[in-house]
Amino acid sequence: MGLWVRDPSVMALTLDFIAPRSGHRFLDVGAGTGAVLQNLLTVCPEAGSCLAIDTSEEMISQISDERINRCCGDAQSIPCSDSTIDVALCRQVLHYVDDLDRCVSEISRVLDSTGAIVIGQITPFCEEDECHWKRILTLRQPLRKHLLTLEDLVSLLLRNSFSIVRCTQIRAKESLASWLSRYSDSQQQCEGVRALHLSAPDEYKRIHAFHHTEEDDIVFDNCWTFIRAVKPSYFSESDR
Ligand SMILES: C[S@@+](CC[C@H](N)C(=O)[O-])C[C@H]1O[C@@H](n2cnc3c(N)ncnc32)[C@H](O)[C@@H]1O
Repeated sequence: MGLWVRDPSVMALTLDFIAPRSGHRFLDVGAGTGAVLQNLLTVCPEAGSCLAIDTSEEMISQISDERINRCCGDAQSIPCSDSTIDVALCRQVLHYVDDLDRCVSEISRVLDSTGAIVIGQITPFCEEDECHWKRILTLRQPLRKHLLTLEDLVSLLLRNSFSIVRCTQIRAKESLASWLSRYSDSQQQCEGVRALHLSAPDEYKRIHAFHHTEEDDIVFDNCWTFIRAVKPSYFSESDR
């Protein structure tokens, strides 16, 4: 348990939303170490092409599969020609992107007319946990540019002329100790995040299914929001 990148249920749903098809061209925006494209090629070895872009050379240099093309680049200025991608993925990256509208309009530009965008993002579950969730994330990840909710993501897509074709939320377990150990934060910051968990409102603890372990850790549920959306031309072209 712990690291979501390796969580099988999150990966399975990511692939289900991507719905890989033979010959399709895939783009992973903010691909990190390329975990999704690697898994995609396992289930769909006949994928047309796979491109991983990320601002961090250090992250994409860890991609060793030669079938995955790598490019150091920014989500707001995607290094691809127009209409050359069938499915673009943004998994747990949008909170780092300064200008989300620019990013989504870039994705729209590079997508083929029948292409789709897939977003996978940890969000609050609902209005009841949103406030405390934002408090925790603000302290835990100060480099975040956004604290995105399902409603924020839907509105981002709609105002950029996408149509939502599928949307779901699932629970994925996280260990507080594991989460706190993943970044080199100060002791003070870690203690603050732990204190925010211990002092969380009962409703927050209930929604996130808090469980105190014998090792003095807290295991809780994260909410993963997945959305698949298509360009406006999708319906008219595929109806032909
Ligand atoms: C939490 S990781 C997610 C990795 C991957 N998407 C996954 O699901 O395994 C976020 C990644 O986004 C990258 N990133 C942050 N800001 C970015 C931007 N503006 N454009 C492209 N990548 C960015 C980071 O370097 C990091 O590798």
